[in-house]
Amino acid sequence: MSSSHKRKKIAVIGAGFVGSTAAHWAAQKELGDVVLLDINDGAAKGKALDLFEASPVEQFDSKVTGTSDYKDIAGADVVILTAGMPRKPGMSRDDLLQTNAKIVKACCEGIKQNAPDSIVIIVSNPLDAMCTVAKQVLGFPRERVIGMAGILDSARFRSFIAEALDVSVKDVFGFTLGGHGDTMVPMPRHCSVGGVPLVELLPQDKIDALVNRAVNGGAEIVKLLQTGSAYYAPSASAVQMAEAILKNQNRILPCAVELNGEYGMKGLFIGVLCKLGGRGMESVIELKLNDTERAGLEKSAKAVRELVEALSKLQY
Ligand code: NAI
Ligand code: 2OP
Repeated sequence: MSSSHKRKKIAVIGAGFVGSTAAHWAAQKELGDVVLLDINDGAAKGKALDLFEASPVEQFDSKVTGTSDYKDIAGADVVILTAGMPRKPGMSRDDLLQTNAKIVKACCEGIKQNAPDSIVIIVSNPLDAMCTVAKQVLGFPRERVIGMAGILDSARFRSFIAEALDVSVKDVFGFTLGGHGDTMVPMPRHCSVGGVPLVELLPQDKIDALVNRAVNGGAEIVKLLQTGSAYYAPSASAVQMAEAILKNQNRILPCAVELNGEYGMKGLFIGVLCKLGGRGMESVIELKLNDTERAGLEKSAKAVRELVEALSKLQY
């Protein structure tokens, strides 16, 4: 039997921990057919086949295929770029700069040539700098190059709040702004639990401890794993972005986008609240920040700017 109706197509570049888990979430949610691409052809094909073979058991109708050939991502609606080295204990995300810039550049050349109309979600670290590399190589409008970090950083914050208050994670809302690094800016003032402001539910020292744990959430996992970094929450976060785009949901989510005058900044990728829909980043939602929040965002922007400057002096 054949059907002429075109299904959505999601290409996941990098079939490592984050990529293969993203393929898993996307397929299980039946967001569309999934193509898993890696420089390691066997890993991409093997993991894709294994995942496809789970579909009768888990009852999802998504075709999952693996490849090392960029021609196979042709027609992708969304590309999730996860290729690149993860950090090891003692490394910061910034230590990955040159290695991952080379990888991201190579991948974006393949994406540009084979999926020129796609919306690209960047995951590779250091995130904000890799978004800059991707945007330059792809040459796509800013609406179609979006970095994943804010959803993950916020999810960590929300998990810890739910645990501290012994309430369902479903009722905890909150977000972080800024770069994906030690200078990220959690926004407790905008956090709520079942609609009640967090600041009315917990004393400041408890909130500070949760903020601190969220900011160091990536490092906490690296220290435990010893051989790599987090992948369940990161891949779930990237797939939430893909879902918002593929289903034209107009979700309000924190994502890394290239600012164009918002918060007085231009040409810099940094995490902000935005509306994610069928065209990608539909709009940036600019908040009225208090002095502390603004200072936090400025500090984070400075850190990202320094990294982008360091990048401009490197060969990749
Ligand atoms: P991993 O090592 O498990 O997988 C990376 C994959 O990339 C490997 O399969 C490797 O073969 C592939 N690869 C390398 N060069 C390639 C190329 N030129 N073309 C295609 N594939 C290539 O690493 P993991 O854990 O999946 O992490 C991937 C990246 O995501 C890392 O840079 C990590 O730091 C980043 N990350 C970012 C997060 C965020 O919040 N933005 C959260 C978690 C991870
Ligand atoms: C994380 O935050 C390593 O960026 C990755 O877990």
